[in-house]
Amino acid sequence: MTKKIIYQCIDAGSDYCPCYLAETNDCITCYHLQGKEFCDCSWRGVCIFQEYNWNGKRAKIARENFSAKIVDKKIIGDNLIIFKMAVTKTFARHLKQPGSYIFIRDINKPDYFHTPMSIMYADDVKGEIHVAIQIIGTKTKSLLSIEDEIMVRGPYWNGVLGIKGLKTLKNSNVLIIARGIALAPAVNILRYLVRNNNKITLIMDKGKFSETFIEDYIDESRILTIEADIISEKGKLIIKELIRNNHYDLCFSGGSDPQHDAIKRFLDQLSPHTKYVITNNKEICCGEGICGSCSMKVGDKTVKACKTQMNTSYIFEKGEE
Ligand code: FES
Repeated sequence: MTKKIIYQCIDAGSDYCPCYLAETNDCITCYHLQGKEFCDCSWRGVCIFQEYNWNGKRAKIARENFSAKIVDKKIIGDNLIIFKMAVTKTFARHLKQPGSYIFIRDINKPDYFHTPMSIMYADDVKGEIHVAIQIIGTKTKSLLSIEDEIMVRGPYWNGVLGIKGLKTLKNSNVLIIARGIALAPAVNILRYLVRNNNKITLIMDKGKFSETFIEDYIDESRILTIEADIISEKGKLIIKELIRNNHYDLCFSGGSDPQHDAIKRFLDQLSPHTKYVITNNKEICCGEGICGSCSMKVGDKTVKACKTQMNTSYIFEKGEE
């Protein structure tokens, strides 16, 4: 018997649900809003179909752009910027969730310059968020000259896949492995896990940067940190030995797809019970499930990775495109 894969929309039950996908019978979670006659959804929150009807059979108001003040800008080496920006406390609170991201662009550039950026740190007391940006292409190069204000759209949450296991984890043992720019989302994740009293081992790899830029954001008295080049043979050995000798309940991989695959193989071999959470590396363009640039094949279905959550074992077992 084939297992039923449960696809859950990250926005289900949020202020942004139902969205435009409901209007075209493409809702990720609700069977009725996929044009079916029956309900077989596994969503346990407020009924999305009912919300849609109460809202006059229309999508709720979508996320809007706003201009945020730059509080601080730090350039590290020749390919990394950290922006600290002032936002409302509510907006910052929404972005404390693991996997949160926003779209940013120069306020003088057109909308298609918007680029998704993971939240590294969100302070809902001060009303401040921090993002780290790797300068690679046209969109990110255009952010270099920004000094005072930046255009922001958000909040978005699907920056990591397998989030359910992470959000419910308490008093457990966690291995976090992050390389390069994926150190930024790892900070938001590990701060969340520390709040839930989890014990964390963090393997940091600076990747193509001149330094690991997250020291100011982690409390080393609560986290065991190891610096390593994780794609070297020595780095792989460190990961394998840690997995072999510790009972990790969850492992997070922040980095490229080959990195995710390699760590998945180590886990399958040495600790198959460990839940696996990974950064979402799909090309996110609209973030709203509309444009299709983030599409990926899971089982026999094409899903929009910018909004869809599922157990990561399906991504590896069923063969992602
Ligand atoms: S980024 Fe446009 S559909 Fe996912």
